[in-house]
Amino acid sequence: MKICVVGTGYVGLVGAAIFADWGNDVIGVDINEEKIERIKKGEMPIFEPGLSEIVLKNISEGRLTFTTSLSEGVRNSDVIFICVGTPQSDTGDADLSAVWKVAADIGKLIDSYKVIVTKSTVPVGTNQKLKQVIRDNMTSNADFDMVSNPEFLREGYSVEDMMQPDRTVIGSDSEKAFSIMRGLYEHLGKPILECDLKSAEMVKYASNAFLASKISFINEMAQICERSGADVSVVAKGMGLDNRIGPRFLSAGIGYGGSCFPKDVAALYKTSTDQAYDFRLLRGVMEVNENQKNYFVSKIVRYFGKNMADKTFGVLGLAFKENTDDIRDSVGIEIVKILRGLGAKLKVYDPEAMYNSKLVLGSTSVEYCLDKYEVMQDSDALIILTEWKEFANIDLERVKTLLKNPVIFDGRNIMDRNKIESSGFTYFAVGKRTAGLEALDKRPSGTPGVILKNGN
Ligand SMILES: NC(=O)c1ccc[n+]([C@@H]2O[C@H](COP(=O)([O-])OP(=O)(O)OC[C@H]3O[C@@H](n4cnc5c(N)ncnc54)[C@H](O)[C@@H]3O)[C@@H](O)[C@H]2O)c1
Repeated sequence: MKICVVGTGYVGLVGAAIFADWGNDVIGVDINEEKIERIKKGEMPIFEPGLSEIVLKNISEGRLTFTTSLSEGVRNSDVIFICVGTPQSDTGDADLSAVWKVAADIGKLIDSYKVIVTKSTVPVGTNQKLKQVIRDNMTSNADFDMVSNPEFLREGYSVEDMMQPDRTVIGSDSEKAFSIMRGLYEHLGKPILECDLKSAEMVKYASNAFLASKISFINEMAQICERSGADVSVVAKGMGLDNRIGPRFLSAGIGYGGSCFPKDVAALYKTSTDQAYDFRLLRGVMEVNENQKNYFVSKIVRYFGKNMADKTFGVLGLAFKENTDDIRDSVGIEIVKILRGLGAKLKVYDPEAMYNSKLVLGSTSVEYCLDKYEVMQDSDALIILTEWKEFANIDLERVKTLLKNPVIFDGRNIMDRNKIESSGFTYFAVGKRTAGLEALDKRPSGTPGVILKNGN
């Protein structure tokens, strides 16, 4: 199959490489010249485990090429995937400007039958409108079919997720397009759901909103656990052993972030209000998520006081989750900004997200460290914001010698509470009534400062 992938970001680059690995001829197209030049040289513009090997192998075997010319991509392919970004706009809607632009440009270029596939996450009804945009821009009489084929990969695991997806969703109104798309995915032996365009678009939003709801649910449980003395990690384990529930997306923490959940939940909520329906559950999911990071920061503020001008915190983790360099809508980055706003200095480290973090945080009051122990040197406390596995196994004796005070705020519950507390640390986690929290609650109210939101 001859495939063009437009947009070589987290989804498009991985998609292009894997389609080529399945034996197809693939052209990746991007407007970012620097990105295309780097990929052509074999340098990956993103960190994604296993990606580099697949890209290099398929480039060298001649199945995978990259260009900035959409015309080259469209003319030399039968199936065109649109994989450009659909970030959140100011109104909460998905910003579809890149998708409209690509569709109009494709319309101008097609001169033979093509299957045009939207992999970008787009609200219900968009593919129907895209069809019209393409038609309005066409200069030939060529035929085309529209397909919605949403992507469900997880950053950090995208190669394995695309190679072995739980399911593939294909929305279309054309038998010919279904048959071509089946030809691409059938060999995986995984379930394929063939449906109409609108239902396919909605499956993506419903899935992400459901997963975000699971996270907000366990974060609400964390609040009750903290107050009552139950341990949310044990509760989540017990819940997750139930096959009807499953263990994933039940980690209490500082809330969900990243380039998908926040924007997709907001866009689905916007879709509901556009349809004159108030999706109350989603409103709650977003509100709980917003509160979660404020509640975490409030523990640091209660412990150290609101004026943090003389405080330095060691921060482990800036990426929105482990195994990625992506910091888009990272809650960790937001927390660093809040603490900096309160006057604190931050010493930060992330195994993969340092470069991206420097671009958004700059150097004011932020020192970028070379490893996880450097952040602790002379810091007033250690704060963990991303669940990188390497942070769970730190040498506690060494940590104690480096920190000014043996205090740890674990926003991802990755540390062993008993080990930490028996090593003499004051430990704060999420959804656990630790000795540190117990002591904090016993302090006379008003000492030092408390900024708690939403009644927490
Ligand atoms: N990142 C994820 O984990 C993930 C998972 C599932 C679905 N999605 C969805 O997939 C889509 C892409 O996400 P992403 O994270 O890969 O985005 P990204 O920002 O990493 O990549 C988008 C790419 O599109 C390119 N682009 C923009 N306009 C273009 C144009 N006119 N022509 C050619 N290239 C153009 C950009 O330069 C960029 O390289 C989004 O809709 C997102 O919601 C993302």
